[in-house]
Amino acid sequence: MQKKIFVDSHCHLNDEKFDGELDDVIGRAVEAGVTRIINFGSTLEDSAVVVALSSDYEALYAGVGVHPEEAFEMTATDLHRLETMTRAPKVVAIGEIGLDYYWEKDADRRRLQQKIFIEQLDLARQLNLPVCIHEREAHGDALNILKREGRGLRGVMHCYSGSLEMARELWRLGWLIGLDGPLTFKNAAKLPEIVRAAPLEMLLIETDAPYMAPTPYRGKRNEPSYVVLIAEKLAELRAEPIELIASATTANAERLYFNR
Ligand code: NI
Repeated sequence: MQKKIFVDSHCHLNDEKFDGELDDVIGRAVEAGVTRIINFGSTLEDSAVVVALSSDYEALYAGVGVHPEEAFEMTATDLHRLETMTRAPKVVAIGEIGLDYYWEKDADRRRLQQKIFIEQLDLARQLNLPVCIHEREAHGDALNILKREGRGLRGVMHCYSGSLEMARELWRLGWLIGLDGPLTFKNAAKLPEIVRAAPLEMLLIETDAPYMAPTPYRGKRNEPSYVVLIAEKLAELRAEPIELIASATTANAERLYFNR
């Protein structure tokens, strides 16, 4: 039987929780069939780290960007630094970028998040790179920005937490949604309904490691090999074979991130 191949389409292996253990963590992922892992930066500094790691490990790819919780006034020089990073051979995306109103309650800071989100969307368009979006409790503004500023862009709303209605709108606009640990939780809320209604070609699987560990590791450190648990849950919820889920989600990640 052919081995099932998975892509962990979003994680943070530069996190200090992996210090000294990367060889083992990546080894376990590859052993589990997770042969490609996309590691995302949150600041200019750790975007540079993520790029460096992608040249150290065959399985690792990189996304570069400034996360909304790290929002700051970006200068032309900062944007140029990001652009320079994307020239490295294994940089496949701009991300993670977006809006986070859960952690940010201040109206001025939220406006700053919107501004740097839009600046980085523009950069992705210029570079013809896909975008990985972080969005928490900012559903309406995120969707409006994508409608207004998203022309010519493609990407994924990672760790999706919106409604089915919003997901349908994203799919119509061509945006995928990313599924992680919360899909496996007993209180998964709307996610089971959303994944049953989804066109399979609009779904990505991801870990967001070290965060968001799926059941039965909830609350512990997450790692890319656990993306298989997300795929298994997706297969169960959709009543489809795991082989189909593996091949389809891998093909979706390839179309978005590896076909340039
Ligand atoms: Ni993330």
